[in-house]
Amino acid sequence: MMKYLVLGNPIAHSKSPQIHQAFAAQFNLENFVYERCLAPLDGFAAVVADFVAAGGKGANVTVPFKEDAFRLSSVLTPRAAAAGAVNTLKVNTDGSLLGDNTDGAGLVSDLLRYCPLAGKRVLLLGAGGAAAGVLQSLLAEQPVRLCIANRSLERAHALAYRFSGQALAIQSFAFEAITGEFDVVINATSASLSGQCLALPAGVFAAGSLAYDMMYGKGETPFLLEARLGGAEQCVDGLGMLVGQAAEAFYLWTGLRADVEPVLARMRVAL
Ligand code: ATR
Repeated sequence: MMKYLVLGNPIAHSKSPQIHQAFAAQFNLENFVYERCLAPLDGFAAVVADFVAAGGKGANVTVPFKEDAFRLSSVLTPRAAAAGAVNTLKVNTDGSLLGDNTDGAGLVSDLLRYCPLAGKRVLLLGAGGAAAGVLQSLLAEQPVRLCIANRSLERAHALAYRFSGQALAIQSFAFEAITGEFDVVINATSASLSGQCLALPAGVFAAGSLAYDMMYGKGETPFLLEARLGGAEQCVDGLGMLVGQAAEAFYLWTGLRADVEPVLARMRVAL
């Protein structure tokens, strides 16, 4: 039996089981089992230990346990180490845990469906865990400019500092101080959750630009509405990132590259 889990709190809303079961069906993996698990807020490590003891092969980790999973991992992939958070655990044959972070790869694979990132001016909005999780992958695409803007300027500076020493110096701003225009603007804040827009300065969205919200929902998110009115040409939500990060996790576990497109199309209809 190939046993997998998604761990979070809350977890009932998670679409990961249907995504992974759809990937498994592409390869006729009949013994692939993937379930949701509501882990107690103070009991993440114990739940993982029980799962490993019961023969579990891997787990996805979501809010609020990505830092717990980071600490629990005995080996980290470079991208998980850079993110400071783990969203995918793989159980090694000796029962130890490999910690990976597939969020950045999921984001970039979805962005590349709309435009290349190399040589582009990229603005990342937010400086929390979601932003930190994707910075390394964005840098690897070699944009010509990469800026972080955040409500709290200190947090923006701190995140840029964490990624200093790379080929490209990351600039950090408060929203109102953002200068210049950008080809790709990515929302990694949680403002959309509370229905709030970000009040970005006029002129942020270059002609032909892509606005990408890491959030997704049935209708247009507040950020994508703001982006459309601000002149962004393409406005895309984060459903593709969700399916993309799952495909990366599935690959880590099985060595199989799932076809994202049909799964994404089905999820879009079901939103
Ligand atoms: P996550 O793991 O989702 O990134 P987080 O680490 O709590 O969660 O970070 C939330 C991010 O959304 C932060 O960048 C936060 O800005 P601050 O650092 O200034 O708090 C941002 N955020 C949340 N609500 C916001 C709002 N209404 N307007 C602007 N930014 C907001």
